[in-house]
Amino acid sequence: MSDPILIVGAGLSAADAILLAHHCNIPVIHAFRRRVSDPALIFNQLPKTMYPEYHKVHQMMEEQALTSPGPYERYISLPKHRVASFTEDKKCIFHDKNHHQKVHKISMALVLIGSNPNLSYLPNNGMDMAVDCDQPVSPKRNPIDVNPFTYESIHKKGLYAIGPLAGDNFVRFVQGGALAVASSVLKKANKNPP
Ligand SMILES: *[C@@H]1O[C@H](CO)[C@@H](O)[C@H](O)[C@H]1NC(C)=O
Repeated sequence: MSDPILIVGAGLSAADAILLAHHCNIPVIHAFRRRVSDPALIFNQLPKTMYPEYHKVHQMMEEQALTSPGPYERYISLPKHRVASFTEDKKCIFHDKNHHQKVHKISMALVLIGSNPNLSYLPNNGMDMAVDCDQPVSPKRNPIDVNPFTYESIHKKGLYAIGPLAGDNFVRFVQGGALAVASSVLKKANKNPP
């Protein structure tokens, strides 16, 4: 019943998030910078027969971008789109490849853009949220400053960072981070039912 969740990125984490949302019938807006057929996309490198579920996501990305409304309910694909900014009233502003602006209302954003992400959609490139606010964010040297138990940003409540962005550069920490975030989000939702 909610506004769609936004999933940004076109790697395996984004694909897993899309599959899970789809499974739970949660509407999804999926934005990514590359075109669907870009050889650098991980989906174009995985053998289809070995990864049928990821192939399915790739197919959705393609078909939903060509036809509108496409065959998959509750999924909108936005290839060659960049997140320009988020507004206080939960809207996301996108720029497409022709620099045209699009606005979508969202309920939540999952930004899954790899270990060395471009944070230009955050004020000041996210610097205000770093451990050292006078230096640029860097997964290795100056990660996002988070509460170690919830992974919520110290400087901006409601914003979370896990994995390399929070200084955890090993895959094995990501699950713990994700669990901590899920737990914190759930606790907040229980305190403030919609
Ligand atoms: C980050 O994204 C912005 C906006 O799309 C772009 O202008 C900038 O060049 C990018 N920075 C890097 C290091 O790629």
